[in-house]
Amino acid sequence: MVAQFVPDTDRSDAGTTSAREAGGDVLHVSGLTVEYVTGGDPVRACADVTFTLRRGEILGVAGESGSGKSTLITALTRLQRPPAVTTAGSIVFHPRDGGPAVDLVTASPKTLRALRWTSLSIVLQSAMDALNPVMRLGAQFADALRTHDRTLSKDDAWARAAELLATVGISGDRARSYPHELSGGMRQRASIALALACGPELVVMDEPTTAVDVVMQRQILAQVLRLRRTLGFAVVFVTHDLSLLLELADRIAIMYAGRIVELGTARELYDDPLHPYTRGLRDSFPPLHAPLTRLTGIPGTPPDLRRPPSGCPFHPRCPRRFEGCDAHLPELVTSGRSDVGGHAVACRLHDPTVRPETTAGGPA
Ligand SMILES: Nc1ncnc2c1ncn2[C@@H]1O[C@H](COP(=O)(O)OP(=O)(O)OP(=O)(O)O)[C@@H](O)[C@H]1O
Ligand code: SF4
Ligand SMILES: [Mg+2]
Repeated sequence: MVAQFVPDTDRSDAGTTSAREAGGDVLHVSGLTVEYVTGGDPVRACADVTFTLRRGEILGVAGESGSGKSTLITALTRLQRPPAVTTAGSIVFHPRDGGPAVDLVTASPKTLRALRWTSLSIVLQSAMDALNPVMRLGAQFADALRTHDRTLSKDDAWARAAELLATVGISGDRARSYPHELSGGMRQRASIALALACGPELVVMDEPTTAVDVVMQRQILAQVLRLRRTLGFAVVFVTHDLSLLLELADRIAIMYAGRIVELGTARELYDDPLHPYTRGLRDSFPPLHAPLTRLTGIPGTPPDLRRPPSGCPFHPRCPRRFEGCDAHLPELVTSGRSDVGGHAVACRLHDPTVRPETTAGGPA
């Protein structure tokens, strides 16, 4: 666990600015629902997920283990495998060149192949999952580069591989190394460089720094921010570590039981979390710039998604639940306070049509 960071909204590469400068949206996700269908009750691991990603923006996705983060990432990239099935919704990708929008949920394998690497790429938690252990790094980069640019010679592709490795702080001569000859942090940085090799517009990253130490984590995040600034790609960055996202992301989506329960800028979620779950997550990390206080954490455990609770899925753990929370599922509603699309929350406390006159006093 790392200490809690204060989001730096003055930093020059803040995505609210870069997204505005770049203009437009790169991705519209609407009503995305993904289930694991295993014979018994289906596990609805993503339920009605809706968000927009702007060009050049870093959207962080945080939530406890089992909240559906990886399911979302694999669905976004259409890399999910059975028993996962996308049962509803759309993922509309808008190419930078103004070409026709593509719904990734229904796109043909040929369309998806054309988009992978050049428009859309992924960084996984374990670099070994992305790198081929029996190929030199340079050969893997050359493969990706030459698949999408048939005019590129082998020598030029290897030279480009060395340049790409240098952008993530790895000496170009390591292009001749096999993955097992690098440290874990170097492999992770190499897999980020590989994901960026063909200049994608969107990179999705699933816990890319979980396997490395805090120092390496800082270096990798700094490189992601720097590369985003120079190359302008958008990122969906998944982690269970909210404090890390407060520093890195422009906006943050909080997931609970497969649903987005709050979405806002890093500053909004840090200063004024609206959902009791977000507040609990925030208060689970020690503050870096304020006196230490007792960490409260969130009592209870996430629900079994085969049989999610009725009503608001957080109600069995919620310290602020009140009458009706166990019966009514709150929708994600935008308050309109954010300058980049609205601070949205799915909690009846913020629904003007509901009056929380009776509080149940939270979980027993
Ligand atoms: N192959 C599978 N079959 C059935 N259920 C699955 C399968 N894979 C994941 N799930 C369920 O889907 C839910 C979401 O899992 P997912 O891996 O997306 O969570 P996560 O937020 O990425 O968790 P973590 O932080 O541990 O990586 C969990 O309840 C999990 O048990
Ligand atoms: S809807 Fe009710 S139970 Fe759910 S988070 Fe809000 S107050 Fe808590
Ligand atoms: Mg995961």
